[in-house]
Amino acid sequence: MKERTLAILKPDCIRKNLQGKVINHLLKEGFNIIGMKMVKLTKETAGEFYTVHKERPFYADLVNFMTESRVIPMALERENAVAELRKVIGATDPAEAEEGTIRKLYADSKEQNIIHASDSLENAGIELNFFFSIRELIENL
Ligand code: CMP
Repeated sequence: MKERTLAILKPDCIRKNLQGKVINHLLKEGFNIIGMKMVKLTKETAGEFYTVHKERPFYADLVNFMTESRVIPMALERENAVAELRKVIGATDPAEAEEGTIRKLYADSKEQNIIHASDSLENAGIELNFFFSIRELIENL
């Protein structure tokens, strides 16, 4: 079934000028980009986005990192988009990620791991809603 999911190119991706490579990788894997923008998160908006991790020891560092620079949220569509995107990006920790995955290729650590992906269809809906209005999500015909 065709699904939509959210990816975010994180500050390390921007700092390392890997935006083009990562976007190309996603396109080659059959994702349609139906929405894309560049935003600067604040402590408040990043904190709200990662509210599920609020009690985790890495929460403050995560919020600091995600507010270091602009980020690029993308709405992606394809068959089984949620699971397929997680497969393509690889494990949270690049040391554990499979060969050829985005994090294995480009990430330095589990804290700075290039790209975020929604972890379920339900969260994909919530996270897409966080960054995009319905009007901004343009169906690829
Ligand atoms: P992401 O997919 O954006 O969702 C939560 C993020 O927390 C995760 O990627 C990691 O980059 C980050 N993070 C930082 N430290 C840890 C940790 N110890 N375990 C899991 N995630 C972590």
